[in-house]
Amino acid sequence: MFEGTDRIWMDGEFVDFEDAQTHVLTHALHYGTGVFEGVRCYDTEQGPAIFRWEEHLDRLYKSAKPYDLDIEFSKEELTEATTELIETEGFESCYIRPIVYYGFDSLGVSPKSCPTKTTIAAWPWGAYLGEEALEEGVDVMVSSWRKHASSQIPTNIKTTGLYVNSMLAGEEARRNGYTEAIVLNKEGNVAEGPGENIFMVRDDEIYTPGLAESILEGITRNTAITLAEEMGYTVHEEATISRGELYTADELFFTGTAAEVTPIRSVDDNEIGEGTKGPVTDELQSAFFDVIESGDREEWFHYV
Ligand SMILES: Cc1ncc(COP(=O)(O)O)c(C=O)c1O
Repeated sequence: MFEGTDRIWMDGEFVDFEDAQTHVLTHALHYGTGVFEGVRCYDTEQGPAIFRWEEHLDRLYKSAKPYDLDIEFSKEELTEATTELIETEGFESCYIRPIVYYGFDSLGVSPKSCPTKTTIAAWPWGAYLGEEALEEGVDVMVSSWRKHASSQIPTNIKTTGLYVNSMLAGEEARRNGYTEAIVLNKEGNVAEGPGENIFMVRDDEIYTPGLAESILEGITRNTAITLAEEMGYTVHEEATISRGELYTADELFFTGTAAEVTPIRSVDDNEIGEGTKGPVTDELQSAFFDVIESGDREEWFHYV
C-alpha cells in the first residue's frame, strides 16, 4: 500500500519522511483522540486535481469540534501546505491524509493540557480493494461485530479511535476469506462497510442508510447520490435497510474515497443479482470515473 514519499508536512513545516516522528506518550496514541481525512488527488485532463477538497476540509473541522480539538491552521494554510506537498513530490495522483490529534503533555484522559498537532502526508495509492474489484465486484460478509451507536461515539465524523471497530470487522472478513465486511448497527440494520458507505438497488431505485443509522457522512456517498439523481434515479438517502434486504437486492455497491464505487457481488456467499457488476452500478461507476478523468466539474475539484 505505501509506495513512499520524501516529505511530510508537520505543524507548519515540511520535514523529511524519517523525521516525521511523534512521542510515544502522545495522547492520541493512547486514547484515539485524533481526527483525520482521506482524500484523493486525481490525474485529470485538467492536470492534478484534489477531489472534493473543500468538503473534506469542512468535515475535518467538523470532526474536531466534539473533541474540542482546536486546529491551529486555517483552511487556506492547510490547502497551501497540501498543494505544495503534491507539487514538490511531483505526484500526478495521490492519496492525501491530513490528521489532527492531541499530542503529549499529560496522560490523564482529559486532553486539556495537550498540544494540538496537525500533519499532512500524501503518497501514491491505487484501487483500495484492487483493480479487479472495481470490475468484478467483491465478496463480503456481514460482520459479527456491530457498529457502535452515535449515542456512544459520533459516527458521522472521522475519528481515529473509531477505526478499531472497522479493523475488527474487516480482519474478521479477511480471515474468513472475504474481501470486506458489512457492519450492522446496534439495532441490527445495515450501517456501512469498515471504510465505505453502502448502496442498494431495488426495482431501479437506489437506497442508502441515513445518517441516523450510525454511518460516516461519506463524501463519495454524496457524490454518488448527486450523480444518480442527475441520471434520473430516485435515491432514498435516509433508508433503513434490514439484513434480509441485502440478500434479495438487485445490486449492492460500496462508495468511499479509497474504494471509489465498488460493486458487491455476494454477501455471506449469496450471489447478489447476477453475481457481477449490475447495470445501475455500472452506469453510476462510469459517471463517477468520467468526472474524475475529465476533472471538468469545477465545483468538485481543487486544481493543484
Ligand atoms: C467508516 C467509513 N464509512 C464511509 C467512508 C466513505 O467516506 P468518504 O466517501 O468520505 O471517503 C469511509 C471512508 O472514509 C469510512 O471510513
